[in-house]
Amino acid sequence: MDVRILDHRTPEERDRSFLPGAGKTWLLPFYDLFSRAVGVRALHERAAGLAGVEPGQTVADVGCGTGNLTFAVLAAQPAAKLTGLDPDPDALRKAARKARRRGLDLTLVQGFADRIPADDGSLDHVVSSLALHHIDEEGRSGFAREAMRALRPGGQVTIADFSGPSSDAEDAGHSAHAHGGGGHGRGRGHGRPHLRLRRSRPAHVVDVAGGHGEGIVTLLTEAGFDDARAVGEADMRFGRITFVRATRP
Ligand SMILES: C[S@@+](CC[C@H](N)C(=O)[O-])C[C@H]1O[C@@H](n2cnc3c(N)ncnc32)[C@H](O)[C@@H]1O
Repeated sequence: MDVRILDHRTPEERDRSFLPGAGKTWLLPFYDLFSRAVGVRALHERAAGLAGVEPGQTVADVGCGTGNLTFAVLAAQPAAKLTGLDPDPDALRKAARKARRRGLDLTLVQGFADRIPADDGSLDHVVSSLALHHIDEEGRSGFAREAMRALRPGGQVTIADFSGPSSDAEDAGHSAHAHGGGGHGRGRGHGRPHLRLRRSRPAHVVDVAGGHGEGIVTLLTEAGFDDARAVGEADMRFGRITFVRATRP
């Protein structure tokens, strides 16, 4: 078993802030509980299934947090080589503890989505769940460019993220802005737990996905990915999730 945490940050990145998984650092111990309670595990399993990782393939999980998508990928393909990337050292330590408990090999890297710790063309897969909406527009474009750089030709990117309100919320006529808030740029906090049970999504979700995954599809297409497309949707209690896949030409 080999579990390691590496610090990939430049001196400048050490001062760079980020929005943690549960919105506030002190809520991290509850993140997995929240996540389980709202059924996010099924989302991770579905994303892992869509990625279709084969034995021996290299995978970067960007914005891995406490490692739930990483572990779903490893459950689906135990012979995959996973690297989790996240700026949150506490989340990475938690992911490392979970990996050790499960007897898994895992490399965890402290860093940001717009600098993926991999050589050019070296990855078979980039996966990411519920992380892009934590990242501002510039960082998301940087992530797409980095995924393009780090994947080999034919490599795949698989993303699951917010794309709109759950149909419950739509039926109730709730607008995204009814809850106030606005987007969260780099360095700004949420002011409330991210995975709080709610009937409609937080306002910033619109900025991420642009409605039904189109935002993510556009992001990947602009970075040069072929055939970026939404391949599935899931209505969760906290909003609608779209699964997007694309191939590195
Ligand atoms: C809601 S959590 C999702 C965690 C995990 N992927 C999951 O599905 O449970 C969002 C994660 O994005 C991370 N994050 C925030 N800003 C980031 C950035 N610029 N680059 C990479 N990850 C970032 C947070 O630290 C957090 O762990």
